[in-house]
Amino acid sequence: MKKKKSSQSVSHAKDFSLEDSVIEVKALRSGYGSTVLMDGISFDVKRGEIFGILGGSGCGKSTVLKNLIGLNAPIGGNIYIQGKNLWNSPPKEKLAILNQFGVMYQQSALFGSLTLLENVRLPMEEFTSLPIDAMNTISRMKLRMVGLEEFANHMPAELSGGMKKRAAIARAMALDPSILFLDEPSAGLDPITSVELDHLIIRLSRTLNVTFVIVTHELASIFTIADRVIVLDKESKGIIAEGTPEGLKDTSNIDFVVRFFNRLPKDFQ
Ligand SMILES: Nc1ncnc2c1ncn2[C@@H]1O[C@H](COP(=O)(O)OP(=O)(O)OP(=O)(O)O)[C@@H](O)[C@H]1O
Ligand SMILES: [Mg+2]
Repeated sequence: MKKKKSSQSVSHAKDFSLEDSVIEVKALRSGYGSTVLMDGISFDVKRGEIFGILGGSGCGKSTVLKNLIGLNAPIGGNIYIQGKNLWNSPPKEKLAILNQFGVMYQQSALFGSLTLLENVRLPMEEFTSLPIDAMNTISRMKLRMVGLEEFANHMPAELSGGMKKRAAIARAMALDPSILFLDEPSAGLDPITSVELDHLIIRLSRTLNVTFVIVTHELASIFTIADRVIVLDKESKGIIAEGTPEGLKDTSNIDFVVRFFNRLPKDFQ
């Protein structure tokens, strides 16, 4: 029922409208030093939803994501995770917030010198004091979730691009996160592998009730997985659209949004 699609109005917030927000972003100013990429954006992400952050190349999607995951401090504004102010919390509290996150970066970056199992085990070694046997068992379980258990002892170089992405998701799930952030999960994958990854994300979302925040360019993927999206705009440094992918496709009258969702070329890159 969660993935039921609707082509009704953009403001149709469907099943999630009554649920609480796990992430609240208020007047976020995002960028580097004196370079402001996004200026004063606000949005929230509901518990259990698959939330998409879209926008043209270089508009600042990954930068916003780095603000959300505690990696880069925003220039201004506030980010609340389950009501707690991420960037204004004392270090111990901030760490507790960050421990609820799983992250898959745009350059998925498995450690090439470690096996898949060791890659998945790494966050546990860093953040828990579990005995090694327990960590290995959990790592195998995570690899099984993404269909890679039999590759536990393989090196990343022995895997296809899609398998590497799945392994990176397994590693992001190592600490049982309640929120999983994925930056361009299907970038560089062929359409079939990309669809398989979409289905994996939906399956994980349904079975684990994890909240997903996904940055992506892939239109087909957005329609398959995203419950709700925001579209960031480089020119105005703001959010130019927010809603369900179908709602935006059908009802938006914003040029970039119409071109993006209907695959009309011009200057979208
Ligand atoms: N560490 C950094 N220091 C300074 N500028 C940066 C840094 N990282 C990225 N930028 C710049 O910020 C802008 C936005 O980059 P960002 O990676 O957030 O965009 P994006 O929307 O994720 O792009 P893409 O779709 O290509 O992944 C770019 O102009 C980029 O060159
Ligand atoms: Mg990016």
